[in-house]
This record gives sequence, structure tokens and C-alpha cells, in this order.
Amino acid sequence: MKLSAAFGFLTDFRYALQASLPGTLKAVISSPSLLLKPALVSRIVMSYVWGLFANGIDGNSREIKIGLITQDAHGLVLDIGAGHGHTANYLDHDKVSKYVALEPNVLMHPQIRATAKAAGFEEADGTLVILSCGAEDTETILSTVGAVDTIVSVLTLCSIPSPELTISTLVRDVLQPGGVLLYFEHVRSPRDDVAWWQKLWTPLWQLAFDGCKLDRPTHLWIEGALNTKGEKIWKEGRRWGVKGEPEEHLWWHQAGRYVKVS
Ligand SMILES: C[S@@+](CC[C@H](N)C(=O)[O-])C[C@H]1O[C@@H](n2cnc3c(N)ncnc32)[C@H](O)[C@@H]1O
Repeated sequence: MKLSAAFGFLTDFRYALQASLPGTLKAVISSPSLLLKPALVSRIVMSYVWGLFANGIDGNSREIKIGLITQDAHGLVLDIGAGHGHTANYLDHDKVSKYVALEPNVLMHPQIRATAKAAGFEEADGTLVILSCGAEDTETILSTVGAVDTIVSVLTLCSIPSPELTISTLVRDVLQPGGVLLYFEHVRSPRDDVAWWQKLWTPLWQLAFDGCKLDRPTHLWIEGALNTKGEKIWKEGRRWGVKGEPEEHLWWHQAGRYVKVS
């Protein structure tokens, strides 16, 4: 792997620190007890970081999101780790009845509300629900919105704790039979040299990006997911990459569409 690609990481890391440090320091100075709550500090950092990166990342992934989300999201749509709610911009009103934005970082909720409203989804008319639990909290999801037709995960499975367990539990308990999981994630590279750098940088990167790991083979976990009896959970599925994405990309992406057995 070229060293310029391997160290390109440091540029984004520096931007993330520059964007988040002033606001985070201000929050800690006005409430020093935050120092005893590192998870909360991490969420504050991420709210600034995502404010800097979200629109650019969304713009770069527009084509793949249209082919994935606009094409296949239908019915009741659960967006795990909704961030600023960009998924709402890709939902087709003719096919989607409700947008459920699950986002544990409540600092991002005003942005979700604004983005969803501009895309025609509002809490007032019942077309938008915002959940503040994690994706692993299937009880809260089920008791609030019930089973869903579509689960969307965009750049989220890199951050959540126990992703393999969360994916299989969400699909087993929350996704309707015949429902669809749509994902777009950065994942562990199939190239050993790139994967080595991803593993090296992950401990540093996750500090700035709320636990985000560069080295998770999420695409393989989804592909091979089984139910508790050891049976396949997918009726069909396929995955694909981003056209023109360099092989040396530290954030090597995969998109996938998987249909749950009926
Ligand atoms: C990189 S952002 C992606 C946001 C959005 N999906 C997008 O593409 O614009 C990852 C998001 O996952 C959220 N997240 C972190 N832990 C989570 C969990 N346990 N369950 C669901 N979302 C989580 C973070 O708060 C963050 O908003």
C-alpha cells in the first residue's frame, strides 16, 4: 500500500479534531463532571465531527444511495444510526409510509427533524418517528413502532457494540418476514496490506468518531448471518462496491441488499 494512502487518514483525523475540540472543551469547562462520562464526551465530539463531514460524505455517496435506498426501501423504514437524517432524502413517498430514525446521540435529533421535514416526513403527521435508543435495543424498537419492512444502515455498523449479534437480533425480531436489509458501510479491505493499516489506525480513529472501527468485516458478517438454529436468514442477497473506488482506500465500501426468508 502506498504510504500516501496509508497516512491520508491523518488529514481527516486532524479535521475531525479541529472541528470538535473547541466546542467539546467549552462543554467540559462549563460542566466538568462530563470528564467522568467519557461516552457522553464522545457523543459531543461526534456531533461536531458529523456536522463537518455529513454533507460531504452524503454527496459522495449519492449515486450508490439512490441505487440502494430509493430503489428498495419500502413500507415502514428503520434507519439505524440516522445521524443527521440524510436517508430521508432518498425515500420514495410512493413506497415508504413512515421513516423511523433511530439515533442514540440526541444532539443530532434537531438535525434529523429538519432534514426529514424538508424531505416530507414529520412527527406531526406520524410519518416520522425519532428513537433515541441503540440499534441493539430491539424491545424499545418493537414496543414503539412494531416490526418494520426495511432496515437501512449507512455507515453505522462500524460503530455499534456487538454488531454481529445486533444484526441477527434486528433481523430475527424487528424485520418482517420478506423484509429487506439495505446497507452501505465501510468495511475491512480484502487486501491484507490495507487491512493491516485499517487495524493499526482503528484505536486512534475510534476516539474521534464515536467508536467507529475501520477493520470490521461487516459485509461478511451480514452475508453469513444465521438464525439460532444455524439456518440461513436470507432468502436472497447481493452486495457490490463503489464504482471507481481505489483498492487502497482505508474506507473501502460495500453496499448490500438482503431479503429475509418469509
Ligand atoms: C458515521 S454516523 C452515520 C450517520 C448516518 N447513517 C449517515 O450516514 O449520515 C454513525 C451513527 O451511528 C450512531 N450510533 C452509534 N452507536 C449506535 C448504536 N448502538 N445504535 C445505533 N446507532 C448508533 C452514531 O450516533 C452516529 O450518528
